[in-house]
Amino acid sequence: MSRVLVTGGAGFIGSNLAEALLKKGHLVRVLDDFSTGKRENLIFNKKYPSLEIIEEDIRDLVACQKAIKGTEYVFHQAALPSVQRSIEDPEASNAINVGGTLNILLAAREEGVKRVIYASSSSIYGDTPTLPKHEEMPSNPLSPYALQKYIGEQYCRLFYQLYGLDTISLRYFNIFGPKQDPNSLYSAVIPKFIDALLRGHPPIIFGDGEQSRDFTYIENVVQANLLAMSAEHLHGEAINIACGKRTSLSQLLNVLKKILGSKQSPIYQESRKGDVKHSLADIRKGKEIINYEPTVGIEIGLKKTVEFFQRQQ
Ligand SMILES: NC(=O)c1ccc[n+]([C@@H]2O[C@H](COP(=O)([O-])OP(=O)(O)OC[C@H]3O[C@@H](n4cnc5c(N)ncnc54)[C@H](O)[C@@H]3O)[C@@H](O)[C@H]2O)c1
Repeated sequence: MSRVLVTGGAGFIGSNLAEALLKKGHLVRVLDDFSTGKRENLIFNKKYPSLEIIEEDIRDLVACQKAIKGTEYVFHQAALPSVQRSIEDPEASNAINVGGTLNILLAAREEGVKRVIYASSSSIYGDTPTLPKHEEMPSNPLSPYALQKYIGEQYCRLFYQLYGLDTISLRYFNIFGPKQDPNSLYSAVIPKFIDALLRGHPPIIFGDGEQSRDFTYIENVVQANLLAMSAEHLHGEAINIACGKRTSLSQLLNVLKKILGSKQSPIYQESRKGDVKHSLADIRKGKEIINYEPTVGIEIGLKKTVEFFQRQQ
């Protein structure tokens, strides 16, 4: 049993991770400002009265120091996780994604935590034509968000090299699953498609629908974080967390239509700035370093996600 902090623990990934950590018997503290995260995502707190929730902002160093006090592992998920929002307001997203990450690392170093596990992003690769994307490729960020995630990774690496703080960056590739918000202007494609189909509305595709992603079900990400926590020695590495399979948006929509028995046709709109055309991960380094292997494929993941959204209706 360990004492752990999950920043961004009221968000989609953080709340799924916090629940899994509680199930494993760990003492969990969540630090979240509830800007995009929701209280209902932490509904499992009734089952786990030991769960501590701190409503603070990671831009505040003192708040980070208080939240990290007494913890052994930090899962840093808090961020403004939207490419489009970072293009509209790079300063605000920089303050959270870079400034907040630096605060978490400073507080973790001061507290002498055993490890910081950082939520990075496949967006750091940008639109490099080589597929699959592997960790030794140069990064080529196409948006402030991607650049900020890359800076976060580099800070994690430096904190290991300069101060001996054990860190690892998990480069998530298009994660989906229960609790992902479908209702924001900035929501990801899968919850938006499911929401539209359930309401009988036409889903919107930006571009021609041939762009593809390595869609990864949340259970794989939770598993990767647990493996990163228990791995022996880590040295500030970055590893891809994905399925190693590529699905186009048109294919994705067809699978969802089949699951839901829908005949809706999509509306096509102009493609968005900052979006990459194709994304696919090489996941061999994750296997080598933390023994990561995806266990839930896209079709099963989509079925589970649809069931979750149907239960919410
Ligand atoms: N969802 C994906 O496909 C994906 C892909 C790559 C990387 N990531 C990364 O994973 C992490 C979690 O993403 P998510 O999809 O769960 O997003 P999310 O928006 O659901 O969760 C982010 C959480 O951080 C909190 N937060 C934001 N600003 C904060 C601040 N200043 N102080 C404290 N808390 C703050 C939000 O309230 C929210 O609960 C992010 O770091 C994101 O960059 C996600």
